[in-house]
Amino acid sequence: MRTRPLKVALLGCGVVGSEVARIMTTQAVDLAARIGAPVELAGVAVRRPDRVREGIAPELVTTDATALVKRGDLDVVVEVIGGIEPARTLITTAFEHGASVVSANKALLAQDGAALHAVAEEHGKDLYYEAAVAGAIPLIRPLRESLAGDKVNRVLGIVNGTTNFILDAMDTTGAGYQEALDEATALGYAEADPTADVEGFDAAAKAAILAGIAFHTRVRLDDVHREGMTEVTAADFASAREMGCTIKLLAICERAADGGSVTARVHPAMIPLTHPLASVRGAYNAVFVESDASGQLMFYGPGAGGAPTASAVLGDLVAVCRNRLGGTTGPGESAYAALPVSPMGEVVTRYHISLDVADKPGVLAQVATVFAEHGVSIDTVRQQGKDGEASLVVVTHRASDAALGGTVDVLRKLDTVRGVASIMRVEGE
Ligand SMILES: NC(=O)c1ccc[n+]([C@@H]2O[C@H](COP(=O)([O-])OP(=O)(O)OC[C@H]3O[C@@H](n4cnc5c(N)ncnc54)[C@H](OP(=O)(O)O)[C@@H]3O)[C@@H](O)[C@H]2O)c1
Repeated sequence: MRTRPLKVALLGCGVVGSEVARIMTTQAVDLAARIGAPVELAGVAVRRPDRVREGIAPELVTTDATALVKRGDLDVVVEVIGGIEPARTLITTAFEHGASVVSANKALLAQDGAALHAVAEEHGKDLYYEAAVAGAIPLIRPLRESLAGDKVNRVLGIVNGTTNFILDAMDTTGAGYQEALDEATALGYAEADPTADVEGFDAAAKAAILAGIAFHTRVRLDDVHREGMTEVTAADFASAREMGCTIKLLAICERAADGGSVTARVHPAMIPLTHPLASVRGAYNAVFVESDASGQLMFYGPGAGGAPTASAVLGDLVAVCRNRLGGTTGPGESAYAALPVSPMGEVVTRYHISLDVADKPGVLAQVATVFAEHGVSIDTVRQQGKDGEASLVVVTHRASDAALGGTVDVLRKLDTVRGVASIMRVEGE
C-alpha cells in the first residue's frame, strides 16, 4: 500500500458533509485498504467557522473555499454545499487545479452537468455524483457501468422521500394534503419551505440526470415536464383505491417506441397496488429500470439523510481515489446518442378523469363523443348520480397527452359538464 495519503477537501460540512467527515475518520483503516492508500482530510470549507464540528480539527476549517480548491495538492474535492453558486465555480476551479470531484448536488448537475463534465474531461479528471440521485441507492453507477451493455427503455421512480411520505400518509390515514404536509414537517421529513419537494423541482432535477445517463443523451432540467403534488386530494385516493391503485409522485424517463427520441417528466400518477413501486412506504425511494436484456430491475432504499447520502459519497470517493492511484479516470459523460427530448404532448399513457356533470339522459353519450372525436379510446366509465348532479369517472386506454388535453378543453365547454374535478395519469401497467 502507498503510504503517502491522498488529500481530500470537503466543501460543506452540514447534514451530508459532517457524515462524510465522520465516516472518513471512523473507517480510515478500511478505506485505506480498499483504496490502496490512506485518505487525509486536508481542509473543510464552511460558511460559519465558529460552529463546533465534532471530530474535525479546528485548523482544518476555513471559510475560504476558493483558496482551499486552489491549493494545488488536492486529489479529490467533495462538494456538499448544494445550490448553483458558489458550488459550480468551486468545482470548475478544483478541476483546473488538478483535483477530481465528488458531488451530491442534483440541482447543479441537472442544470450544468454537460459543462462540468467537459471541464473534467479537459483536465483529465473524474466527476462522480452517485449521491445526487436517490441518496444511498446505487443507481448512477449501475446505469453508467453495470447496464452499459444493455439498452435501457424506461426509468420509473419515486425519487423524493418527502413527497412519498406525504402521499403515503394521505393514503393510509385518509388525511388531506395540508394535514399530511404538517405531519411531515413536524417529523423532520419536510423542510420549512417545502416548495422544491412538493412542486416536483427536486424530482425533476433527478429525472434529468437519470434520463441523460440511461439514454446516453443530454437532458437538461428545462427538458423535464414537471407537475407538483399539492393538488392531490383525499377524493383522488378514494378513486385510486376503487381502481386497485395508489398515487405516487413519479419521475418517468422513457425512450420513444421508435427509439428516436426520449421524454422525461415528473407528476403524480396512479399506479396499480400490484406494482412494486406501490409498496414503497414513508420517505423511502425506489427506482424501476426496464432494459432490453435485463428486463425489470428495482433499486430501493433510503433516498436522503446524512449517513445514507454519505454512503454514496464515500463510494464515489473510493472509486475516484482508485482511479487516481491507477493513473486513470472512470466513465465521463456519455451523450453520443444525441436524442431529442420530445414535449409532454407526445407522451402516451392512460388517464383517469373525474367530471362533475348534469344528471340527465344523453350526457354520457355526449362526453363519449368528445373522447372519440379526439381519438382517445375509453376503457371504463363509472357514473354516480344524485339530485340532478352526477360524477362521471372515465378511464382511458393509452392516448397522447396532447389528445387528452384537447378532449378536456372541449369537455370544459359543454353545458352539461359542470367541472373537471381531477385528471390523473395511470402508470406502471
Ligand atoms: N441532506 C440530504 O439528505 C441530501 C440527500 C441527497 C443529496 N443532498 C445534497 O447534498 C448537498 C448538501 O446538502 P446538506 O443537506 O448537507 O446541506 P446543509 O446541511 O445545508 O449543508 C451545507 C453546508 O455547506 C456549507 N456552505 C454553505 N454555503 C457555503 C459557502 N458559500 N462556502 C462554504 N461552505 C458553504 C454550510 O456551512 P455551515 O455549516 O457553516 O452552514 C454547510 O456546512 C446538496 O447538494 C444536497 O442537494 C442532500
